[in-house]
Amino acid sequence: MIGRLNHVAIAVPDLAQAATLYRDVLGAEVSDPVDQPAHGVTVVFVNLPNSKIELLAPLGDESPIAGFLQRNPAGGVHHLCFEVDDIVAARDTLQAAGARVLGDGEPKIGAHDKPVLFLHPKDFCGTLIEIEQV
Ligand code: CO
Repeated sequence: MIGRLNHVAIAVPDLAQAATLYRDVLGAEVSDPVDQPAHGVTVVFVNLPNSKIELLAPLGDESPIAGFLQRNPAGGVHHLCFEVDDIVAARDTLQAAGARVLGDGEPKIGAHDKPVLFLHPKDFCGTLIEIEQV
């Protein structure tokens, strides 16, 4: 069901420092920071030949990654995003298999203007999973 790994999201406490690390130490192509107020994050996109890394820093007082950074002050892998062809069909298959979909179960428009859903980390080896319809 899942297709390409669309991105790995890494929550970081210092976005400029993380961008410098990926650009200057790892030699990756790194975007300027992009504020995404609807998602409560500022994102730096790291473009790799076969996928992307998204460096996420909190934006605003109610950022969904604030709690994660409190528990992981040095930052860490926040979620993996897999591509799917049909997000409603994917959701139905996952729920039928007993996986928990976060929120009200209806796809939301994600950071790339495409429908996304998040799956409970306790059902996926301790990893928050995002699925995105491409
Ligand atoms: Co994501």
